[in-house]
Amino acid sequence: ADEGMWLPLFVKRLNQADMQKKGLKLTAEEIYDVNNASLKDAVVQLGGFCTGEFVSKQGLLLTNHHCGYDALQTHSTPQNNILQNGFFATTPQEEKTNPGLFVDILVRMEDVTGKVLEGITPGTPEQERVAAVQKRQRELADAAKENGQYVAYVRDMFGGNEYYLFVYQRFGDVRLVGAPPEAVGKFGGDTDNWMWPRHTGDFSMFRVYADKNNKPTAQPQADNVPYVPKKHLPVSLQGVSEGDFAMVFGFPGRTQRFLPAAGLQMTLDQTNPARIKLRDTRLKLWKEDMDQDAALRLKYASKYAGIANYWKYYIGQNEGMKRLKTVQAKQAEENSLMQWIGQDQTRAQQYGEALNTINQAYAGMRQYNLSTQYIQEAAFGTEIVTLAARMMPLYTTLKNSPADKAAISKAVADLKEPLTDYFKDYSAPTDKKVFAALMGLYMQDVPKDQQPDVFQTVQKQYGGSMQKYADYVFANSFLTSEAKVNAFLANPTLAKLEADPGFKTYQSVYTNYVQNILPKLQGMQAGLGRANRLYVAALREKNSQKVYSPDANSTIRLSYGTVRPYEGRDAVSYDYKTTAQGILEKEDPTNPEFVVPKKELELLKMKDYGRFADKQGNLPVAFITDNDITGGNSGSPVINGRGELIGIAFDGNWEAMTGDLAYDPELKRCINVDIRYVLWCIEKLGGAKSLVDEMTIVNNGPNPG
Ligand code: ARG
Repeated sequence: ADEGMWLPLFVKRLNQADMQKKGLKLTAEEIYDVNNASLKDAVVQLGGFCTGEFVSKQGLLLTNHHCGYDALQTHSTPQNNILQNGFFATTPQEEKTNPGLFVDILVRMEDVTGKVLEGITPGTPEQERVAAVQKRQRELADAAKENGQYVAYVRDMFGGNEYYLFVYQRFGDVRLVGAPPEAVGKFGGDTDNWMWPRHTGDFSMFRVYADKNNKPTAQPQADNVPYVPKKHLPVSLQGVSEGDFAMVFGFPGRTQRFLPAAGLQMTLDQTNPARIKLRDTRLKLWKEDMDQDAALRLKYASKYAGIANYWKYYIGQNEGMKRLKTVQAKQAEENSLMQWIGQDQTRAQQYGEALNTINQAYAGMRQYNLSTQYIQEAAFGTEIVTLAARMMPLYTTLKNSPADKAAISKAVADLKEPLTDYFKDYSAPTDKKVFAALMGLYMQDVPKDQQPDVFQTVQKQYGGSMQKYADYVFANSFLTSEAKVNAFLANPTLAKLEADPGFKTYQSVYTNYVQNILPKLQGMQAGLGRANRLYVAALREKNSQKVYSPDANSTIRLSYGTVRPYEGRDAVSYDYKTTAQGILEKEDPTNPEFVVPKKELELLKMKDYGRFADKQGNLPVAFITDNDITGGNSGSPVINGRGELIGIAFDGNWEAMTGDLAYDPELKRCINVDIRYVLWCIEKLGGAKSLVDEMTIVNNGPNPG
């Protein structure tokens, strides 16, 4: 299909004829309507990072396994390892609460560009513009919150050329209902991640709870009842064929398709290589220890998955950028834009400086970019430094208001609260290895004049050995165990905190960043906001016949397309669907990534597929469509032309890893788990038929398309 993650508000403006030709039977109002139940009411943003969809009128929610991964790990112990074994709650008592986890349900959205930019002209000085825009964004959002009833914010689109208001209900009681064993939900592991063909049952289930009046609560509450959504999706057992219409509704996180060539170049030859190298190191060290010890493996499972996913993404993105010559293509587009701008005096006046400013800004930023990357991925790649950073509110209070007992108690209480969770998943010896390695690379790779003072200490007092410095830090810091942190918090003093070598290390990195790096970067980026805005405006004016979709920014979008195979590379073509046959082909009891649980093996060997078999008698597992999605869409419903659920989106394909920077219509695919495999895993593998019965199962004949 075409590129595009569209704002559902504008579904009327989209190419309805094209959507209908592809098989859409729904009206615009059935997709997005503020006053009546529509598709948007069945789709939620989960925890700010994923998407989920309602599949019953008792608030039952489907999403991806990797979206529920952290909750699954949190509720797992070596004795009751639900992450490993899977679990389905068939009574409310068995469901598990997740304080802090929430879902946002869209109430309405509005184009507020006119309100935000009122009175602002091309001549308005930039600082004045920025201040006015920020103030109006805040005011509009505050008014829309209606005294705390709603969550609301204004997001900019097209580099600040347009502004939209989003109003949500936020539900803070989201309980874990179930998931298949990890060997199903993450089948194929990092080897298969970001790749097709896929055989992963990447789903988990939650239930949203509300108070007796069906209103959200901020936290889980014992007397809450299942939320009754305005709309839930019927589930289709019909299955998919090539060419079927497919719509994906969800909350894509971030794309940068308007990133200029200089920005792409920096990503390609600085940002991505640095991140890959540092994550490579961290993953190897974590894995060494995880392989030694089952308890440690559980502790680090979610953290490991959390960085492994984008580690592989950066690798694929860079490979793709080289293969598809993404920078060169963008450069050519910019050259022709420059030409177009030069053809006309008004244009030249309005846009003439934009690209020069952008190129200069990036030339400057390149000098400091490594520092930023190494602070994020090396310094903050160690857990001790992140814990030290959390001490900052207490530090500031001790320093600025040492006599304010109440403020100190509050800072201590805020720190204490999450401490148990943090140390539950912490291993100091593992972290020490990571610290020695990552800080060592930081000292080795970042220009000397950009390094924190602490590296001088390492040079002078530890003979330049980061290992020796790590030995010292981990032997003497109280940030390495819950008992020691608690002992400090029982009687916190500024002197003790300032003397702690873990905190000192953090402070040195932070101070260096704030004093030596950030001001430089801010200086270089000063003109970038305006230049980007003009660049995007010029591009859209030049190509006025093309309807651009705004970059993803964690706001609700829909994309439409069809079920479609692809040609991966010369002589390699991929089918559009996979079946359980492939699970048996990939099965490898000696490789943890490809273990198939015993019960699943038995069921598959008996071909016990029940009503979930396809027309050829196979058990469908996954399929691909050409919908345009990105991270954050994880868990999104894949909906057929009648508005019925046919799958759950969970990944993108290796051949199109540049998708977040540049869209390739021939290669980009969206990877979905077939809803029939999901139901099979719940009913046959999980023995939780009551959860399937709760859904509205339909069989309305072939998908339109
Ligand atoms: N690549 C997927 C995404 O970002 C996540 C898949 C999780 N699975 C895994 N093996 N890490 O949406």
